[in-house]
Amino acid sequence: MVVADVLEAADCEQVLLVRDRTADATALVAVHDTRLGPAHGGIRRLQYASLHDAARDVVALAQAMTWKCALAEVPAGGGKCVLLDRPGLDRRAAYRLVGRTVQQLGGRFFTGPDVGTSDDDLREVAAVTKFVAVAPAAGEPGPGDLAKATALGVFAALSALAERLGRPLAGLHVAIQGLGAVGLELARCLRAAGARLSVADVMPERVAQAVALGAEAVASERILQLPCDVFAPCALGGVITAAVTAQLPARGVCGAANNIFADGSPADREAASLLHRRGVLVVPDFVANAGALIQGATWHLTGVVVGPERLARIGVTAGELLDRSRRADVPPSTLALQLARERLARASA
Ligand code: NAI
Repeated sequence: MVVADVLEAADCEQVLLVRDRTADATALVAVHDTRLGPAHGGIRRLQYASLHDAARDVVALAQAMTWKCALAEVPAGGGKCVLLDRPGLDRRAAYRLVGRTVQQLGGRFFTGPDVGTSDDDLREVAAVTKFVAVAPAAGEPGPGDLAKATALGVFAALSALAERLGRPLAGLHVAIQGLGAVGLELARCLRAAGARLSVADVMPERVAQAVALGAEAVASERILQLPCDVFAPCALGGVITAAVTAQLPARGVCGAANNIFADGSPADREAASLLHRRGVLVVPDFVANAGALIQGATWHLTGVVVGPERLARIGVTAGELLDRSRRADVPPSTLALQLARERLARASA
């Protein structure tokens, strides 16, 4: 597949490939769908093997944002930016390039943090555009802790999943992969509810923090093979490979990582069907991890900081999807996509 085919397949409204020739910096911005409202999506800075891989990532992530907004009933659409990283990249120039591009879009795309983008990077973007979420200075109003919002949403979805597994949270065995801003907060929520945790991270100090909460440390390469009730992917996407699909010992999957399937999507039809046939209940990632989007977009669109009850609605959506999935004998991700497409079609009618 060439880059053009990737872009065509994703059915985006607009994709921009921009370069700063002096700094040798390249970025891609995808505006997938604005029928529900302005596109929202963070900036991912990553070293890609090729422009093709970067294009595939940006459109898949933008598309998932559209579905996430539709299912979370947030009046926003899907977008994403990827910044092609390389050794020696002039980060300041690269993020300014992104900022200029976002500014040119004039409000059709609103951006913020994602993997590889720090608060300092966002300040560079904010120097040239207002369409960006930057952590407020001390004492300034802001949307609050977005990673915590994501963790609360995942916790709500995971609680709904546990109920469908017929297990109380107390004693539920959860394997968490990745103990960053979201994974560690999720670990805190689960421990407070009495869950048993097995955890893995490539950074030993983060594992130590979870162990201090009462979790058991597991080697990173073993976490997917661990017999447990729920596997919670909170590191990077792409972890549900064909081998994992066939053998995952967990009875359920629910986490924060975007696009968990190895094909780079959040809803690989074949893998989702196989997991469904194996009786593994999978909460679609774009349902479980909508907390930051709900809190961030609501703040930027209305100036309101949402309360925990709004984030808890993620659990209601997840529970309804799992119930409908059981009744219709169809994977939850297939139903979630149907629902998102129906809401988008209504918006464009
Ligand atoms: P983070 O960067 O703070 O944490 C990720 C953690 O995963 C790090 O501690 C890292 O060392 C670990 N990790 C990386 N590779 C690993 C491996 N092979 N095995 C075990 N651990 C590994 O990221 P954050 O903010 O906690 O987000 C986690 C995931 O959730 C990411 O995929 C992100 O895109 C997604 N997400 C995050 C949201 C947010 O509000 N922060 C919102 C929606 C999705």
